[in-house]
Amino acid sequence: MYMAIMGHGVVGSGVAELLHKNYDSIVKRSTVDSLDLKYILDLRDFPGDPNEDKFIKDFNIILNDDDVKIVVETMGGLHPAYEFVSSCLKAGKSVVTSNKELVAEKGYELLKIAHEKNVNFLFEASVGGGIPIIRPISQCLAANEIDSIAGILNGTTNFILTKMIDDNMDFSDALKLAQELGYAEKDPTADVDGHDTCRKICILASLCFGNHVYPNSVYTEGIRNITLADVEYVENWGGVIKLLGQSEKLADGKISATVFPSIISNKSPLASVTDVFNAILVTGNAVGETLFYGKGAGKLPTASAVVADVIDSAKHFYKKKEFGWNDTVENYVVDYKELENAMYVRAASSDCEKIKEVFGEVKFLERASAPENEIAFVTDVMKESEFYNKLNSLALETLSVIRVSKY
Ligand code: HSE
Repeated sequence: MYMAIMGHGVVGSGVAELLHKNYDSIVKRSTVDSLDLKYILDLRDFPGDPNEDKFIKDFNIILNDDDVKIVVETMGGLHPAYEFVSSCLKAGKSVVTSNKELVAEKGYELLKIAHEKNVNFLFEASVGGGIPIIRPISQCLAANEIDSIAGILNGTTNFILTKMIDDNMDFSDALKLAQELGYAEKDPTADVDGHDTCRKICILASLCFGNHVYPNSVYTEGIRNITLADVEYVENWGGVIKLLGQSEKLADGKISATVFPSIISNKSPLASVTDVFNAILVTGNAVGETLFYGKGAGKLPTASAVVADVIDSAKHFYKKKEFGWNDTVENYVVDYKELENAMYVRAASSDCEKIKEVFGEVKFLERASAPENEIAFVTDVMKESEFYNKLNSLALETLSVIRVSKY
């Protein structure tokens, strides 16, 4: 059996390396006679690469070669990945991708084409890098109704927050360090503003709850506004700040789906997930809580998930794996203002009594060397719309608002 890789970046080159490194066991587990890389599509040149003779620049060579049965897409971005993947599926080739943007935006449509063409469209590497999560949800937890899913899904932001918490670095220095170490891109928007986490929670929520969740329906906040003052207050409260992607099954077949920085109690298993690690907490109605932990990014960890999908595709080439979800339904994701959370507030004020008058009993927090005119408190759990009505009625100069997680 022949395969091709589209995109020779970090993940694509890792896939080629892993295929070579573990060739014998990969072929054995694929239950095929051979599994050979025929082409690598990339517009760049890679002189001296061990696969130098396999590089091509024209996608049509892959599309028109009937010997190529499995295509790995590791190009990233929506275009032309979407056009290439959809053409491959329509041509009867199975596709394996690590591209979360592609799956989050076009997953339903591509799964439908794969179903019609009786081929596989697999994307284990699109969430959590090397952490097994798509297959465990769709297979191992298949007997459950999933109640909720919550995760630290972005390694870069978790690294930045860890540096702020452990080393007292402010956001911009921690971001600079993440860029120097190659975790954050030169343009860090997708990571720090939460878009990457949003795409991943869309994929997980679609899989867990059965209808496609599109990124534009998910309320998303990143970590740019988190300050060392917030980190210190939260530490004294007994927790840490993490960027969480969350989704929960609600009444009437609706779901919540959100991405925002969240205050997590030190007692939560998610609190000890540091540096570039990811962790995903899945709660099923039979199994209870399960936690998946590991390296959410990087060359070989991500290639590990891609190649596992290649093995699965080869193994099930003539008997396609059936999994996926339905199209979205109207108003499927509820407005985040309807959700209930306890809220942390930091404001320029010293008027505890006025705050208690409006919010009732709140927990006031302390930190060393806080300016005189600064106050921080945590409210009871309430609807977000109610919280903002109350906060606005106080007319405080609000410096930070962070939701307190229940996970
Ligand atoms: N930029 C992503 C992260 C890469 O930091 O987690 C893996 O999706």
